Amino acid sequence: MRRVAIIGAGMTKFGEEWEKGFRELVVEAGIKALDDAGISGDKIDGGYIGTMASGRLIGQEHIGGLLADYMGLNPLPITRVEGACASGSLALRQGFMAVASGMKDIIVVGGVEKMTDLGVTTVSDILGGAGDQEWELFLGATFPAIYALMAKRHMVEYGTTEEMMAAASVKNHKHGAMNKYAQFQREITIEQVLKSKMIADPLKVLDCSPITDGAAGLILAPMDEAESYTKKPIEIIASSQASDTIALHSRETLTGLNATKVAAKKAFDMAKMTTKDINLAEVHDCFSIAELMAIEDLGFFEKGQGGPATLAGKTALNGEIPINPSGGLKACGHPVGATGIKQAVECVWQLRGEAEGGRQVKDANVALSHNVGGSGATAVVHIYKN
Ligand SMILES: CC(C)(COP(=O)(O)OP(=O)(O)OC[C@H]1O[C@@H](n2cnc3c(N)ncnc32)[C@H](O)[C@@H]1OP(=O)(O)O)[C@@H](O)C(=O)NCCC(=O)NCCS
Repeated sequence: MRRVAIIGAGMTKFGEEWEKGFRELVVEAGIKALDDAGISGDKIDGGYIGTMASGRLIGQEHIGGLLADYMGLNPLPITRVEGACASGSLALRQGFMAVASGMKDIIVVGGVEKMTDLGVTTVSDILGGAGDQEWELFLGATFPAIYALMAKRHMVEYGTTEEMMAAASVKNHKHGAMNKYAQFQREITIEQVLKSKMIADPLKVLDCSPITDGAAGLILAPMDEAESYTKKPIEIIASSQASDTIALHSRETLTGLNATKVAAKKAFDMAKMTTKDINLAEVHDCFSIAELMAIEDLGFFEKGQGGPATLAGKTALNGEIPINPSGGLKACGHPVGATGIKQAVECVWQLRGEAEGGRQVKDANVALSHNVGGSGATAVVHIYKN
């Protein structure tokens, strides 16, 4: 297996981007990644693009063909990858495997979603398709409701409080306020979270990731060629993926995601590392409770300790393990297909020492990204090193 490096990274601003359509977003991110790598499209051998629901959100399928066309990459092979909110990370994993195997040399990988053209009820319905349509969504369980069930159980079993969950949102908004690409660049307080509109008890609007437009892109190359393109190649030292039941009711536990635990173990084994080697992590905080479960399932904290650790500031920029320096899904935004690539872009910037706005993690050498599809039927973990 060949070693694989990221040689270029770029993203659009995340948010309600009324001025830009789906194709403008994806092309902007792709061109930014190419420019960052200092190469033109004729160096590319192919690519992978993650999007969860472009067909239902904007009526456009065949995204591989669209991307090849609009990025001027014809006749190169570009393939669409789908794994709900983990679509972006799956595209990265496909690109990683293509370069690692020697099948391809220079690969573009991207993620995109255009979500704000529809009303929130319709978008919720579309997102609900990432869970069990027949046993959850059809019976009225939206994604906030699914994660609310996990939150309730976590509160009962471990004494997790609404303040602890709110602390994750407060910390992520603080980080987002330093990120010019973030949807919400404003700080919030625990009190504001607790008083915000109830969405699915105990989750309030400020416990939820928003509905977002955006795209992100990366250029991958074999490590032994990477230095001819960039002085700061970032190596992907682990890529892993795991699955679990599509419905929550089939799981042994509601207080953690087994797919995350399995993917994390595989990634740490592949990197020959432990949590102690990680300097920062971008984790899947689609809801505040999801971040608490993620930092436990990834092994940064014991089960049940994610809440107290977050409230104590251990996951802040200057804490024991900085979590979501980009602002996470909560503040940076969650254009579902783009999120996994955006997490990798943030890791690249952090490991190059180029994160702007005061959110650079000191002495960042190794970073981890964790991306979840739906309520945990898919989880993807990557580890990167400078
Ligand atoms: C939580 C949610 C239902 C809120 O939607 P909503 O009630 O329709 O909110 P609105 O669109 O009416 O927005 C009202 C205001 O709150 C803001 N807002 C909406 N969602 C927000 C969020 N998650 N965080 C912070 N502010 C938010 C809006 O920007 C708007 O502010 P403005 O009045 O200053 O423009 C929606 O954001 C949502 O469904 N989030 C979850 C998405 C999801 O499930 N993703 C997949 C996860 S697996």
